Amino acid sequence: MARPKIALIGAGQIGGTLAHLVAMKELGDVVLFDISEGTPQGKALDIAQSGPSEGFDARMKGANDYADIAGADVCIVTAGVPRKPGMSRDDLLGINLKVMKSVGEGIAKHAPDAFVICITNPLDAMVWALREFSGLPHNKVCGMAGVLDSARFRHFLSLEFNVSMRDVTAFVLGGHGDTMVPLTRYSTVAGIPLPDLVKMGWTTQEKLDGIVQRTRDGGAEIVGLLKTGSAFYAPATSAIEMAEAYLKDQKRVLPCAAHVDGAYGLKGMYVGVPTVIGAGGVEKVIDIKLDRDEQAMFDKSIDAVKGLVEACKGIDSSLA
Ligand code: APR
Repeated sequence: MARPKIALIGAGQIGGTLAHLVAMKELGDVVLFDISEGTPQGKALDIAQSGPSEGFDARMKGANDYADIAGADVCIVTAGVPRKPGMSRDDLLGINLKVMKSVGEGIAKHAPDAFVICITNPLDAMVWALREFSGLPHNKVCGMAGVLDSARFRHFLSLEFNVSMRDVTAFVLGGHGDTMVPLTRYSTVAGIPLPDLVKMGWTTQEKLDGIVQRTRDGGAEIVGLLKTGSAFYAPATSAIEMAEAYLKDQKRVLPCAAHVDGAYGLKGMYVGVPTVIGAGGVEKVIDIKLDRDEQAMFDKSIDAVKGLVEACKGIDSSLA
């Protein structure tokens, strides 16, 4: 059987890291696409030349023409601009919306059967716009945020409890922004929910609240340190986890920005929810029960996402 074809739209910091990970994990052949001439070609060549030492079999190609993504099984979209210190993800909306239009049209024309994972920020609004511009089925277009936000939460919790990150599970709902909703009740160490760990004296409520806030600010903390761009290693790894779930039909339960229509009382909008990802793309949205406080935080997050979607419609009348 031929290797899967993975198109990476955007060959910047995340795009290059994605290509390297695809090669190392032998998930398929890669086409790195970018508007910048030479960048995708240079990165493709560099990564290909790590093959003899690493021992992987994967073809790497750089491209500036959408025709090269023809027939891709997976498209991961990072095209656009990242934020700088002091900027919120929402400040990127105007520029990145235009980028989503060209990317959506390129995918619709050349890779309409692909599973599309968007990473470009502001995530929830960009994945919605990308789906609108591409016209692909909703279950085949989703956004990467929840896996990353949960990974950040798990990392901070593992440091607090001094246990392996593998034994910490965490749950983050809502939009990928300041209003994201880390759910402590559904986050555990080896199955023990965080509120029980507070009762057991493993941590205090105050420390837990601090970790929740650090998770919400996780992206900004890295932007502040890097100064010239935003996080790329963990975002790339998170998207690869989703792509692998699709390519190998793993039926992984992963939080992602999915099209929610009915669940959570929502009518057709993209927002971070737990999903099942397998060969059918986003095969299921898991509708969990929220308590009153969680619902209030979720509602606030939904309003923030709706505001961004309205802003998109205001900028591009074809979306209205
Ligand atoms: N089509 C294709 N590629 C484009 C386009 C376009 N219309 N516009 C910009 N690009 C490319 C740039 O040339 C650049 O190589 O997108 C790439 C973006 O790479 P970086 O600037 O390194 O940004 P990165 O850190 O990879 O983040 C990309 O993901 O997490 C989000 O907020 C982040 O929106 C940002 C995106």
